[in-house]
Amino acid sequence: MNELTKEQKEKVKNILSQMTLEEKIGQMNQESVSIVGGFDVSFEELIEMMTDGRISHEEFEKIMGSAEKDYHEDEIRAGGVGSIMVQDPQKANELQRIAVEESRLKIPLLFGLDVIHGFRSVYPIAIAEAGSFEPELFERTARMAAKESRSQGVSWHFAPMIDVARDARWGRVSEGPGEDPYLVTEFAKSKVRGLQNDTSSPKNYVAACLKHYVAYGACESGRDYNTVSMAKSMLYNTYLPPFKEAAKEGAATAMASFNDINGVPSTVNTFALRELLKETYGLPGFVVSDANGIRECVAHGIAEDNYDAGVQAANAGLDMDMGTGIFRDYMKKAVEEGKVSMEVIDEAVERILGVKVWLGLFEHPYITEEDMHQYDTLPKEHIALAREAAEKSVVLLKNEGHLLPLKKDAKISLVGALAEKKEEIIGAWALSWKKEDCVTILDAFEEKGVNYSYYPCCDVEGEINEEELKGAISDGDVIVAVVGENVSMSGEASSRADITLPGKQREMLQRLLESGKPVVAILMNGRPLALKWEQEHIQAIIEGWHLGIQMGPAITGILFGEVNPSGKLAATFPAMTGQCPIYYNHPNTGRPGSKSKFTSRYLDAGFEPLYPFGYGLSYTSYEYSNLAVAENKDSLNITLDVENTGDMAGVETVQLYMRDVTASLVRPIKELKGFQKVTLEKGEKKKIECKLLKENMGFYNDNGEYLLEDGKFQIFAGGNSKDNLMEEIEIHF
Ligand code: GLC
Repeated sequence: MNELTKEQKEKVKNILSQMTLEEKIGQMNQESVSIVGGFDVSFEELIEMMTDGRISHEEFEKIMGSAEKDYHEDEIRAGGVGSIMVQDPQKANELQRIAVEESRLKIPLLFGLDVIHGFRSVYPIAIAEAGSFEPELFERTARMAAKESRSQGVSWHFAPMIDVARDARWGRVSEGPGEDPYLVTEFAKSKVRGLQNDTSSPKNYVAACLKHYVAYGACESGRDYNTVSMAKSMLYNTYLPPFKEAAKEGAATAMASFNDINGVPSTVNTFALRELLKETYGLPGFVVSDANGIRECVAHGIAEDNYDAGVQAANAGLDMDMGTGIFRDYMKKAVEEGKVSMEVIDEAVERILGVKVWLGLFEHPYITEEDMHQYDTLPKEHIALAREAAEKSVVLLKNEGHLLPLKKDAKISLVGALAEKKEEIIGAWALSWKKEDCVTILDAFEEKGVNYSYYPCCDVEGEINEEELKGAISDGDVIVAVVGENVSMSGEASSRADITLPGKQREMLQRLLESGKPVVAILMNGRPLALKWEQEHIQAIIEGWHLGIQMGPAITGILFGEVNPSGKLAATFPAMTGQCPIYYNHPNTGRPGSKSKFTSRYLDAGFEPLYPFGYGLSYTSYEYSNLAVAENKDSLNITLDVENTGDMAGVETVQLYMRDVTASLVRPIKELKGFQKVTLEKGEKKKIECKLLKENMGFYNDNGEYLLEDGKFQIFAGGNSKDNLMEEIEIHF
């Protein structure tokens, strides 16, 4: 969101000057969805009904998509609503007409929705897409989502989700770009550019929403909504950078996270919201609470009651209330009692109006019939982009004896119910997908004319079908088993205390292995899994994640070698759940983990992860050599050679890490500071050059001071965070 023009600022000031206090408070109110069809409840009560099982996840989504009842039409007419979640363009126009034609000041509504990894052209979940290590791709997929959603009236995405996450027990690792601050920051900036920067037409851009601010991914024990406490230096060095850089990139809005940070919930955290995000990082737009977040401050024990929670939130710099109605019900009283100043109200409303003006909502409040139907048939470019993103997100984890790629005419037993389920390829938080767009692995096998027979054999949760297992074992020469998690096992409120393959899937794999036939496991999951047994016994393992509508063609293309896998892991995979949280950029400790007993390790799980951050195999192989580091005044020049030593072309992600060996705070043993994708033909060798600015080699202390300290540094380069070339260098800043 670029700086408003003089005219736009004038417009905002002019509207603000005409507004009554009630109308100002109305802009700060995002109405929850009230529903007919048997449920006349608010959004958060719907969440509760889904959580305690009174309605299923599918019913929740159906209700959200089919909301019929008026959205408090009289309230909109009275200027009492600033924003609404919407999925139906007709409904959006209907409500917008009331706001724009019947309210006193005719301020348009801002329609928001969760569009996390695609609108109708659903592409890979973020933890998968981040593994493509391709910022340009992150931007293109975001722009596609912006165009598709804007045509349906959605001009505000509650995205990107940019929570650094290091504990795979947390279900929301699926929604974010992984464990590394640098990669998450690159993802965040690219997504903001993709969502916001094509302002050539109001059809092409939406407001981004950086979430969840901040450190939600550090919830204790990986249990969703749990408390967060950490040294402030950790906050500054690990969790804040994506928000800082994305705010500088011009992100229009941000969403306060549910969690407390060292005892103060983000929703009422003045230091985090007003001082840091707005004043220091310069967020140009406004901050919205997460759903029900203000009310939850009473449960947190930081607010006496809803009134107190509302007062604290407004004063802390929270500008819009998602779904509780607390601002609507109490802000007037708060101002009249002098608990909240008119300056606080005016600042919030100015920010909200600024985003609406920047989006062009005053000039283009409605969706035209033409817009509405622009994507009735998905453009082939969108399908192609969803497939490209899917292919680039797949990670080859194991390929013993070069079992893969399979021969075109291989006789295959395709096994596992996940192979056919369209609803399981789209991943968590896909709200606007259509079944007819989804191509499963089974669909792709059929379309490609693969020589296969299909045996569901086993659901993610459920018993093994003995008949089908027998058929699978006897039919194929090679067994392709699709195993993993249901979409409902990751995303919000979906932490798992045991992150091995759920149900009887491992038993099914064991039984398949007894056939003596080669087994390929294709994983469909929303988080890193603890796959120690699978790594020890299964000949080939492909990490397929939840890749979106083109999952089938992407996986099949890789299985048969039309595409050489190039994806890398954006998050560490543990050998066992008990190792969580586990991540590569950890401090060394005084007893770094090793095979000897008295070091930082587990008796039953050692200290190494199963697969490290940045890891991913290829059908070819690469060799790294000649790492050299030269110091310039303001930067390091780093060069190295990478050679394709295998027998097919491939794309390798060369990763650059550094270590500050001795500093005034212990620093991680490695920190990602750059990456470059390089295409190498068979036998080709390329020299890679990258520059590391000295200003980026520092760290924050507990006071938020950024320190560049002279001393010894180590520079690493390689194809993952573990196997690297290394050079040491003394740096004087
Ligand atoms: C949810 C999520 C948030 C989402 C919001 C609106 O509870 O925490 O990510 O954007 O509510 O659906």
